[in-house]
Amino acid sequence: MNNDFEKIIYDTETLKARIAEMGKTITADYLDKDPIVIGVLKGAFVFMADLIRAIDTPCEVEFLGVSSYGSGTTTTGAVEITRDLGKDIEGRHVIIVEDILDSGVTLAYLKKYLANRCPASIRICTLLDKPARRQADITPDYVGFTCPDEFIVGFGLDYAERYRNLPYIAILKREVYS
Ligand code: IMP
Ligand code: MG
Repeated sequence: MNNDFEKIIYDTETLKARIAEMGKTITADYLDKDPIVIGVLKGAFVFMADLIRAIDTPCEVEFLGVSSYGSGTTTTGAVEITRDLGKDIEGRHVIIVEDILDSGVTLAYLKKYLANRCPASIRICTLLDKPARRQADITPDYVGFTCPDEFIVGFGLDYAERYRNLPYIAILKREVYS
């Protein structure tokens, strides 16, 4: 499997250290606000698991199932909710957690979708930001790393459902997907 990668861009230790910092920032911003942390499935689940353990104030956890990609490497522009929230978010502080913000189509759609339910606030926390490819008008509030315009996998990120289990993030060789 290691043969499939150009190089590792964020190793396990680097990810761990950065997520600990993000957790500290979120803790300070949400002290006694009892936020609902909403993970976007499936990609965010690995980051989300580490992030919530780095948040040192009470919070709730929910998941939204979203599909926007099929098995390709570029967005189709269509977003489908495959699993909805388990509870009402009216009047609550919401933090949407994503693996990567790429075109921004997914998060722009989700932010609007959740805003319709009248939460007290909505912020976006993404492990990775790929600003080079932005199409939608959306700015994340918390970013782990600004990443290069390459197709990357691991730590929850997939190519055709593979590589989510890697404990690091690597650039996938073009020959694997072209
Ligand atoms: P967006 O709607 O284009 O911002 O796409 C967001 C979703 O696309 C992410 O949640 C990922 O699931 C997927 N995605 C975008 N870029 C990559 C990548 O480089 N590797 C793996 N998945 C990606
Ligand atoms: Mg994906």
